[in-house]
Amino acid sequence: MTLHNHHYHYTIGTDPAAPPLLLLHGTGGNENDLLPLARVLSPGSTVLSPRGRVSERGANRFFARLAEGVFDLDEVTRRTHVLADFVIAACGEHGIEAGSLIAVGFSNGANIAASLLQLRPEVLAGAILLRPMVVLPDSAPKDSLLGKRVLIASGTQDPIVPSAHPEKLADLLRAGGSEVSVQLFPIGHQLTTADIMAAKDFLGS
Ligand code: MLT
Repeated sequence: MTLHNHHYHYTIGTDPAAPPLLLLHGTGGNENDLLPLARVLSPGSTVLSPRGRVSERGANRFFARLAEGVFDLDEVTRRTHVLADFVIAACGEHGIEAGSLIAVGFSNGANIAASLLQLRPEVLAGAILLRPMVVLPDSAPKDSLLGKRVLIASGTQDPIVPSAHPEKLADLLRAGGSEVSVQLFPIGHQLTTADIMAAKDFLGS
């Protein structure tokens, strides 16, 4: 499907009690990558899964970067607003309640999910951030994230994410009133069953 120049996947949920999910893939992924994860985490959920619109030598991403771990904050800000506007339009198109989505983001997708929380908190009800790092250095505005729960799942042997980042990011989000849980696993950047268990626990599924 295409809307506002975004390719995306949409699945209508079968369980009205299951939270709708916004899936945000990692670098080089696409809108189909996290569908199996979503089915395991919450089989009855409505799923909205856009493809990152930036191409880094053919690898899809949600914002361009200057180098690995080096970011152009104006670019991240601009792309965050473009994605937020797409999500709002897609919610209108498919009858998803505004602000009810839980983001499930991996790596670059986790990073833009965190940016959404910092810049456009109205778009999400909460987020599962798998291997995020600090991209935007500013705290979420006071009370902007009240009632929004966030899980940060990180690997202590992750070669991409600096070890201080999970707690730093948690503090930036807590400043906005979010309830943030940081789970550290003795693993690297790739996802494992530990992430799935933590995410299921977070969702209560
Ligand atoms: C990013 O660029 O968002 C992070 O470095 C994660 C990734 O490698 O994509």
